[in-house]
Amino acid sequence: MKIAMIGSGYVGLVSGACFADFGHQVVCVDKDSSKIERLNANIMPIYEPGLDALVKTNVDAGRLAFSTDLASSVKGCDAVFIAVGTPSRRGDGHADLSYVYAAAKELAGAIDPKTVVVTKSTVPVGTGDEVERIIREANPGVEFAVVSNPEFLREGAAIGDFKRPDRIVVGSNVEWARDVMRGVYRPLFLNESPILFTSRRSSELIKYAANAFLATKITFINEMADLCEKLGANVQDVSRGIGLDNRIGAKFLHAGPGYGGSCFPKDTLALLKTAQDNDTPVRIVEAVVQANDLRKRAMGRKIVNALGGDVRGMKIGLLGLTFKPNTDDMRDAPSIAIVQTLLDAGAVVHAHDPEGMEEAAKVMPDVVMCQSPYAAAQNADAVALVTEWDAYRALDMGKLHAAMKGNVLVDLRNIYRPAEAEAAGFTYVSVGRGPLSPEV
Ligand code: UGA
Repeated sequence: MKIAMIGSGYVGLVSGACFADFGHQVVCVDKDSSKIERLNANIMPIYEPGLDALVKTNVDAGRLAFSTDLASSVKGCDAVFIAVGTPSRRGDGHADLSYVYAAAKELAGAIDPKTVVVTKSTVPVGTGDEVERIIREANPGVEFAVVSNPEFLREGAAIGDFKRPDRIVVGSNVEWARDVMRGVYRPLFLNESPILFTSRRSSELIKYAANAFLATKITFINEMADLCEKLGANVQDVSRGIGLDNRIGAKFLHAGPGYGGSCFPKDTLALLKTAQDNDTPVRIVEAVVQANDLRKRAMGRKIVNALGGDVRGMKIGLLGLTFKPNTDDMRDAPSIAIVQTLLDAGAVVHAHDPEGMEEAAKVMPDVVMCQSPYAAAQNADAVALVTEWDAYRALDMGKLHAAMKGNVLVDLRNIYRPAEAEAAGFTYVSVGRGPLSPEV
């Protein structure tokens, strides 16, 4: 099948490369000509494991191309995906749909009859109706269908998530459009990934409901972690104890410094706005957003408290800055609020991140970026692990301790064993494993 992907950002690029790998003919379009030039030279605009190799294989095989010319790219396509950004609109938290609508307007005049226009961008309920209206108004004669097909890719694991999804959601009541989507996803379908067909509005809401539910799970376990610290319980035991119940499930129950990234913060906020606009309170999501915001700075204070409450002039080394491992994405990363809290308290902050330092330097110019975790720990009063990169799991604890001036190790992701950290000479503080909690 022939597919155009409008928007060659994270979602568009991963989806386009994976569709090409299925054997489809794919053009990824972007307005940013320097991005397209770099993609043509196999330079990826983002860090995503395996993406450069996947792109190269499919470009070499003649199945994947990049272009700035939207009109010629959508000609003759079976499906045109809109995968442009929907950032939070400044000021009110609504999803900013201007890029989606601009793409709809531009493709309207160029599509052939019986093209399926697919919104892959995360868009509020009802956006499909508006996209349909825009295309019909611009090109009244053409037969087309607008379908919602949300993505459930995790950054850092996006290719695996695309090729082995838990489910594919397709929102459309138009039978011929459903058939085109069956063809697009046929390789997965044959692998028995379930395809769920719903109405367009249900599909749009599924995306927001899924992200809000996952954000709720994380926030719930984070609050349990706080309680564990007060009660002398161990949050990892609690997670396991509840997660083994199939009705609850073990995933997304890792306590930490709060969720960040390009999706959960933005999507929970947009869902709140939709609910408010429709006079339907979603109080749980409201509480989740508020609790998560407060938590990020609270984690900064946790580090300050581990150092006795006054960190003026002290040096703190941070390990991991990106919102999660295997990405260079700094959007809404908890490290941003943590750094701000530490700087406000008068500390000097040094940091290391395997992939994120270039991006991080743009949002935290006062932090000294270091070339290794040990360099970040040099003469530090405390080291705090913020993002659980694999590279930090096997650190030489003795070497880390020897590099430092002080001995405080704050582990905001619970990746170390308290007994091992203490044996290496650290005063070890983690999340939801208070001093009274039994060793793990
Ligand atoms: C998330 C969803 O997991 C994807 O299904 C969805 O497609 C994507 O948003 C999106 O809407 O595009 P992503 O933001 O890449 O994916 O990352 P996650 O792995 O979900 O992590 C999000 C945040 O939650 C991170 O800050 C992570 O550290 C935190 N988290 C996750 C926890 O604190 N604890 C957990 O148990 C899991």
